[in-house]
Parts: sequence; C-alpha cells; structure tokens
Amino acid sequence: MAFTIAIDGPAAAGKGTISKAVSEHFGFGHLDTGLLYRAVGARMLDGAEPVSAAETLEVVDLERDDLRTVAVAQAASKVAVIAGVRAALVDFQRAFARRAGGAVMDGRDIGTVICPEAEVKLFVTASAEVRARRRFLELTAKGSVLTLDEVLADVRARDERDMTRAEAPLKPADDAILIDTSTLSIDDAVARAIAEVTARLG
Ligand code: C5P
Repeated sequence: MAFTIAIDGPAAAGKGTISKAVSEHFGFGHLDTGLLYRAVGARMLDGAEPVSAAETLEVVDLERDDLRTVAVAQAASKVAVIAGVRAALVDFQRAFARRAGGAVMDGRDIGTVICPEAEVKLFVTASAEVRARRRFLELTAKGSVLTLDEVLADVRARDERDMTRAEAPLKPADDAILIDTSTLSIDDAVARAIAEVTARLG
C-alpha cells in the first residue's frame, strides 16, 4: 500500500523529530529531503556546478559527515532557489513517496509541489526565537562556538530565502494541518502528529 505523509515547515521547527517518530510508529519509510539539498550545497562548496551536482547525486554524497553544518545549510538554501536543481530531485522524491509500505517525506514543498496528493499533510512550525534556541543547543552540544544571535540570524536568513523564492517557496498547502511546536513538548507534538495520521488512515 502506498500512503504519503508530507511534513513541511521551516528549519528547526521539529519536523525531523516528528517525521522519525511518525515513520517508526507506522513502520513507514522516511526521506529527509533537506539532505538532498544539503548534499548539493556541499558539492557546490567543493566547486561543483549545482545543477550538474543535483543531476549526478550519489548515495555517498548523502553520507558526508559535514551535511549538518551551518555552512552547508546556508549553501543548501542557496542551491534550493535554482529551478534546475529542484527539477533534478523531483523524480527521486516522488518515487520514494509512493513506495510500497508508506512514506514520510519531510521538507519544505512536499505538500505543495512534490506530493500535492499526499494522504496527510502536516505543516510544523514555531517562532524563529524558539527554533533558533533549539538549533543553538543542538549545535553547542556538538562543539559549535556560534552565539545564539548568530544562530538566530542564520535561521532568519534561511526562512527569508525559503519563503520568498520563486520556485516552490515554503508555505503550507491549503489543506495542511498546522502544528505549532513553540509551546508543545516533543512528546505532545509527536502525539498530535500520530493522532492526525491515525484519523486519516481509517
Ligand atoms: O530541512 P533542512 O534544514 O535540512 O533543509 C536545508 C535547506 O534545503 C532548506 O533551508 C531549504 O532551502 C532546502 N530545502 C528545500 N526543499 C525541501 C527541503 C529542503 O528547498 N523539500
């Protein structure tokens, strides 16, 4: 059975955590589509031309250990504005979304562009300050020396680029269910997402 759950939203809203928990709960596959853009961004930082990097992306590119850095995140949001980069990644994402056994797709444009027919669409968000604090704690735990203000500036710069681009801008689909995690615990946010999916699985 194919069943697609689209989970979109801005950086550090809790999409990744919710997506993993939902995919484990239902036994569905999980694709973090941000990793595709990060891998293209990382290859651009290495000197590759972004569209040809996207067209020739390989599994090893997705296994690099620098994909979670702030520099690669910024590069990802820069290559993500390029129509040719987005086009090169569409087929892979759509095929994964319709895999047998169900799929959780997390990204920015899953409910609007990649899978407008997804059975469930969630839009996970939170205030920029709350998201920056979460990302700051995550990065600090990994040894980063960035300040909270620097992380907030990074979150805002990526939001701006993701929401104002012409190609597949970040926005909720008309029929998306909004989950604001600003004041929700991780457990409550996950429970809410699982309840919404359960209601639609029937
Ligand atoms: O979700 P993550 O922070 O890993 O995404 C990195 C960047 O990739 C985002 O800021 C966004 O510019 C881009 N992206 C996108 N479409 C997606 C997933 C990510 O444009 N479906």
